[in-house]
Amino acid sequence: MKNTVIVGAQWGDEGKAKITDLLATKADLIIRYQGGCNAGHTVVADNKTYKFHLIPSGILYEGKTCFIGAGTVIHPETFQNEIKDLIRQGIDVKGLKISPLASITMPYHIETDGYSEDTAVKGKIGTTKKGIGPTYIDKIGRIGFKIEDLYSKEALEEKLDIILPLKNKTLKEIYGLKTYTRDEILELCRQYADIFRPYVEFDWQNMLSEAKKSGKTILFEGAQGIMLDIDYGTYPFVTSSNPIAGGACTGSGFGPKLVEEVIGVSKAYITRVGEGPFVTELTDETGDKLRDIGHEFGTTTGRPRRCGWFDAVIAKYGILVGGLTSMTITKIDVFDDFDEIKLCTAYKDTRTGEIYNDYPTNVFIHKYLEPVYETHKGWKTDISNIRSFDTLPENAKVYLKRLEELFEIPISIISVGPDREQTILLK
Ligand code: GDP
Ligand code: IMO
Ligand code: MG
Repeated sequence: MKNTVIVGAQWGDEGKAKITDLLATKADLIIRYQGGCNAGHTVVADNKTYKFHLIPSGILYEGKTCFIGAGTVIHPETFQNEIKDLIRQGIDVKGLKISPLASITMPYHIETDGYSEDTAVKGKIGTTKKGIGPTYIDKIGRIGFKIEDLYSKEALEEKLDIILPLKNKTLKEIYGLKTYTRDEILELCRQYADIFRPYVEFDWQNMLSEAKKSGKTILFEGAQGIMLDIDYGTYPFVTSSNPIAGGACTGSGFGPKLVEEVIGVSKAYITRVGEGPFVTELTDETGDKLRDIGHEFGTTTGRPRRCGWFDAVIAKYGILVGGLTSMTITKIDVFDDFDEIKLCTAYKDTRTGEIYNDYPTNVFIHKYLEPVYETHKGWKTDISNIRSFDTLPENAKVYLKRLEELFEIPISIISVGPDREQTILLK
């Protein structure tokens, strides 16, 4: 296998973890490069369901190195709980390593995220309230804590002198939230140091260098999706990191020349959790049917996911800005009981009649857009046991071939069920 990045090509929850798990058998090093515990990644294998938030989905295989890169934000207690859960399920976490450069989500990040969401009258994002935005704000504002700080008393003390007065002023005067004493933060940092100690890879430069020199196969696991990307997504209704393939380079420490393939992951329809524009959203019984059959409830927050027909305008945009070289289509089995399936190929501006074939990035006009649909016939057959493209029902083949025609890149994997085995590999 080539060095591959797995990228969500919609608004997250496309089934990235299933594809990462599938390809991880052929990889030596699996790297999570951005995001934090806002992610909820599900793998179903050997009749067991595993849920991940921060730990790369490759951890289910023995002998792999799973690395949480510098581009991530880590909430120590969530990380600790995830490890405990995996160990309880009999998973060996020996291969897990964390970059000392990853950022730490502090309690005040979660408190301010929750406060902003709960008190917003207008402009609510619908975040996961896991402190992701506030952690990245502090990182970019150069007042964040990195994991390496936990192991240097001097660094921690120096940083606290700068960060604590600023933080407390903001917490008190802007948010009206409780402030922190120096001793409280130092005590927390002592606890965090213990949590991370067995996993921090201080020799990460050597690890990456060795992986490069010895030609190890590297799999990069993205979280969220292209439409949630801070630069290219439906801003401001996005997350605060770069899920696109470029994020794999900045978030891992490997340069772009190492990446050979970028596999986008899309559902056969589309979902979104939280606020923000959604041109093909179905608020009727068809949307409810997709949610029921597809079990569309958030892995991290349990919130019902908004559901809609496949949006090829978004897919083509994602193929461009996400740098995709092939696409995976998941959850096509969810259509097994549908008489007809709609596919959005363009948007129409209801004010002017203008047709948009390319994705309009100004989301404030999306409320004026309606989808231009083509209608495909359903197949009314259970396809969850099919393992080759040729034996799929004719109407499913027509739908997939049409998607491929619109994408102008190949479909490399089709997923017909949550289980590792329920997969059709095309390439
Ligand atoms: P991720 O965040 O992209 O890794 O995706 P999630 O794990 O949040 O959500 C995808 C959900 O769909 C999970 O519950 C998966 O087990 C499930 N899933 C993945 N692929 C398929 C598929 O092809 N068919 C069905 N029915 N479910 C799938
Ligand atoms: P995975 O990796 C789906 C969404 C939130 C919200 C927005 C910002 O499982 O695909 P944040 O907490 O990141 O500041 O929230 O992004 N969001 C996700 N939606 N899947 C995810 O991750 C998501 N991570 C964040 O619902 O709309
Ligand atoms: Mg998810």
